[in-house]
Amino acid sequence: MKLSDCHNIDDFRRLARRRLPWPVFDYIDGAADDEITRARNTAAFDTVDLVPDVLAGVAAIDPSLTIMGRRSELPLILSPTALQRVFHWQGERAIARAAAKFGLWCGISSLATVSIEEIAALTQGPKLFQLYVHKDQGLNRSLIARCQAAKFDALALTVDTIVSGKRERCARSGFTSPPRFTAASALSYAVKPRWALDYVLREKFRLPNLDDHVDAGTGEPVSIANYFNTMLDTTMDWATAERIRADWGGTFVLKGVMSAGDARRAVAMGADAIMISNHGGRQLDGSRAPFDALREIVDAVGGEIEIICDGGIRRGTHVLKALCAGASCASGGRLYLYALAAAGQPGVERAIALLKDEIERGMKLMGAKTLADLTADRLRYR
Ligand code: LAC
Repeated sequence: MKLSDCHNIDDFRRLARRRLPWPVFDYIDGAADDEITRARNTAAFDTVDLVPDVLAGVAAIDPSLTIMGRRSELPLILSPTALQRVFHWQGERAIARAAAKFGLWCGISSLATVSIEEIAALTQGPKLFQLYVHKDQGLNRSLIARCQAAKFDALALTVDTIVSGKRERCARSGFTSPPRFTAASALSYAVKPRWALDYVLREKFRLPNLDDHVDAGTGEPVSIANYFNTMLDTTMDWATAERIRADWGGTFVLKGVMSAGDARRAVAMGADAIMISNHGGRQLDGSRAPFDALREIVDAVGGEIEIICDGGIRRGTHVLKALCAGASCASGGRLYLYALAAAGQPGVERAIALLKDEIERGMKLMGAKTLADLTADRLRYR
């Protein structure tokens, strides 16, 4: 199986599985507890149907829009995800460059393996920084100041990760950041020599946004669960969010809002956008799918704040369904991570190109010339 055999996101997943040591694949692919929410995130899109308008004259369609003040060529954001250097040696550089090439927003994680400054230097495209609030206030201040200096376009505060979800695949594999080659895990790495050579011989793994402040995760291998549970600030509340918004002073997003009540509070505190997200099902298993939560959140705050439907997207039609249900745009992590792991930047570009093609074909088949034509009456709930 090679890159040209990948015709959808699931194909990239299969290729990634072949190329990655299984603890690394399971870190990307896995989620919390029984992984019910993770499965639901995608399955939710199958519970509704699209209603096309025929004979609409769709020779020219326009899937572009403005998201948080910046032009985006598609209603799709590449969500921030951690540790990308572990999945492919090109890491976040591949994501930032591919996003810029397609005119999309890219998200950069607090746990990114490329620095805030380097990302800013390599792309003029719209970029969002995802913030984890650490107990170390100095670290929080430094992350915000670095994003301001680097002129990131938005800051997204993650609010669904006050402690780590119970990620049983990681508990079984012993996956750590950085990966630790123990006697027990050595075989899983040795059977993927290409990955192992790239990992060992290429640029050293780092978490350059954090490593001036914390050794865990860079010098000292820790599980992601352990990192979250020891480093993050469990006292974080609405007052913390307001303080961070004020310190940042720019476009501010709450990532992980799942209820109409919290969406109203996000509007009240002056957030510019919310990402309806359950962290890819990696945190609270049993939480609703973002798509299932979308309608009541749109009813509560639609038109008052930008609403990003994050998670479960595997198809262009999923994006169209989210827009019909009232989302401003959609976003996702695994939808490009499998491709990154499978083939680096060319993989990510192919994944985006496939989704772009699906979105455009879907719009034509729907008789939608612009995204504004994707209205609630174009969707039926079974
Ligand atoms: C995760 C974090 C790091 O879900 O966002 O693993």
